[in-house]
Amino acid sequence: MNTLNHLAIILDGNGRWAKSKGLPRKAGHVAGAKNVETICRAVHKRGIKYLTVYAFSTENWNRPEDEVSAIMKLFDSYLDTCIKDCEKNNMVIRLIGDRSGIGKLLPKVELLEEKSKNNTGLNLTIAINYGSRNEICHAAEKIAEDYKAGKISEINDELFSDYLYTKDIPDPDLILRTSGEQRLSNFLLWQAAYSEFLFVEKPWPDFDEKELDKAIEAYNNRDRRYGKIKEDN
Ligand code: FPP
Repeated sequence: MNTLNHLAIILDGNGRWAKSKGLPRKAGHVAGAKNVETICRAVHKRGIKYLTVYAFSTENWNRPEDEVSAIMKLFDSYLDTCIKDCEKNNMVIRLIGDRSGIGKLLPKVELLEEKSKNNTGLNLTIAINYGSRNEICHAAEKIAEDYKAGKISEINDELFSDYLYTKDIPDPDLILRTSGEQRLSNFLLWQAAYSEFLFVEKPWPDFDEKELDKAIEAYNNRDRRYGKIKEDN
């Protein structure tokens, strides 16, 4: 059996979920944000140590202004709740993404990261204004600077990983995407080298504990070889 230490989820389908109910897209995002809380508890209960959620990509800014602003308001109030409930929830919360572009969310993110860093429960990483290519470019830029300054001499994959936003976070064991699309959409491209993938039909607001258990079971049945061959072959 495999150990699911880090589950990463591409939250997709909030808009379609709302549309199917005759609701505005914003209502789908409200339901989606609520579901993040439910799934955090469920994941922790099942002994999974790391959960990463892809909430907003560098490309999502191209959505209509009123939708983007509704999503930003949701993040803002989610951060307030997390700051308030920091001790009770006991989660270690981090943001990955380009922090220079998140405006007034930044001080709240920094406060929450500081406040939650010594907690001992679930490690929740939220990807906001995140793009994997952008992350890799930033890392390459910083590595070039440090190389030029003589701070580093050899560039290998371990060192490269330390320059990414996900430094200190293990690579995801399972990357799951809801709502039927089968693509990575610029999420954790470097970190996904040996991840397992799972695509489920349910839109994110309908992804419940039962779906989570099905996903864990599917993951447990995967044969992870990391490029090696099975011993009995
Ligand atoms: C995905 O569905 C949702 C987003 C890209 C928007 C932001 C996500 C949330 C509000 C939930 C996470 C919240 C927190 C607090 C971490 P979509 O709009 O792409 O759905 P569609 O493909 O059906 O249009």
